[in-house]
Amino acid sequence: MLIYIPFYDIISIKKVISMDYFDYKNGKLYAEDVDVSMLAEKFKTPLYIYSSRTIIEHLRKIKSAFKEFDTLVCYSVKANSNISILKLIAEEDAGFDVVSGGELFRVLKAGGNPKKIVYAGVGKTPEEIFYALKTGILMFNIESVEELQTINKIAKNLKIKADVALRINPDVDAHTHSYITTGKKENKFGINIILANSLFNTAKKYKHINIKGIDMHIGSQITIIQPYIDAIKKLKNFIEQIKSFSKNLEFFNIGGGMGIIYKDEKPATAAEFASEISPYIKDLNLKLIIEPGRFIVGNGGILVTSVIYNKKGINKNFLIVDAGMNDLIRPALYGAYHSIIPVKQIKGKNILYDIVGPICESADFLGKDRHLPDLKQGDLIAIRSAGAYGFVMSSNYNSRPRAAEVLVQNNKYKLIRKRETYEDLIKLEI
Ligand code: LLP
Repeated sequence: MLIYIPFYDIISIKKVISMDYFDYKNGKLYAEDVDVSMLAEKFKTPLYIYSSRTIIEHLRKIKSAFKEFDTLVCYSVKANSNISILKLIAEEDAGFDVVSGGELFRVLKAGGNPKKIVYAGVGKTPEEIFYALKTGILMFNIESVEELQTINKIAKNLKIKADVALRINPDVDAHTHSYITTGKKENKFGINIILANSLFNTAKKYKHINIKGIDMHIGSQITIIQPYIDAIKKLKNFIEQIKSFSKNLEFFNIGGGMGIIYKDEKPATAAEFASEISPYIKDLNLKLIIEPGRFIVGNGGILVTSVIYNKKGINKNFLIVDAGMNDLIRPALYGAYHSIIPVKQIKGKNILYDIVGPICESADFLGKDRHLPDLKQGDLIAIRSAGAYGFVMSSNYNSRPRAAEVLVQNNKYKLIRKRETYEDLIKLEI
């Protein structure tokens, strides 16, 4: 059965669009001042398109929200690690949060300042630790006794002191998807708050470790402030205790996780977030580090894809498009919602569809039960808010070359990653 609803309400779409610079002009979708269908024609689809202005504005917004504190914003590279995006962020003088040697390498290639890099992650290998120590990063966020011992040993061999923060797991519920909740005691992340004191006492004994900070990160796509406040309150006693022992404590890193709008969420704004946590951190007199990823790049990207087939059925209509779960895995992995809009507004009745990719899995969907016009082969749609955890989580599943990426700035655009070719698919195989 086909369900028709009236031509969609442009006003409500406009309202949602205002958080970024992807908007319609004369019925055509633009990325800043660049025509999206022109980019799709030139670079083919599936195509990631990013808006510099959206990314920079979000970065500035979060920086300025925290200006009351001495704050270092460390952009979380995992959200989008294209070197051109990292360069944009480095040019704004931001720091970086990396979780692998590969991410560190990218940041350095993009001109990031090593002294503004924090290195997080539960499984840093000795090789990665060596690389980061040689690079001279700001600090490691450490998550276990064994990691501490390993860093101490490598630093000793290098005859240096390694600066570290202890990542504490405060055991709070961030009220987000269970896969991206990281601050509960059953999660693998951080040092259980009950063990934190004994770890601190152990760490003090290591001659090549300098405890410079306390760190937490409770999850991702968090839309409320209370879990942060609960976590900070839980860590406060511990921080005060440490401060009385150690003069070296300089930083409090509250992690990332600030949520964005995908559908109808009402996340706290950066300013609300900063002002509401302020009373709990002010009197600690520590420099602040934040590690936002999604907040900076999430709304700054779209994934443009073309219709391969409009498969009308009895129970369901499927819009089969040329982007699949290998290009954007968030709907399949987390049941995530991304708004989907036509690149060209078409007058007429809308149809209810599942928007699916060409991959041989029923999890290969980009959106379910969405209203879109009666689109034809070759028509374009845009999947919005795909700037974070989009391309970076893409794969070659089904031997599909990965999408190209384009960065727009006002009326200019540049290809920042070429589309992969069939040859690329096999070039490392022996
Ligand atoms: N810091 C640490 C230690 C993290 O583990 C993360 C994200 C961040 C900062 C940045 O979080 P953000 O501000 O972007 O929320 N693939 C998932 C998200 C995974 C987040 C992993 N850690 C998704 O697509 O929703």
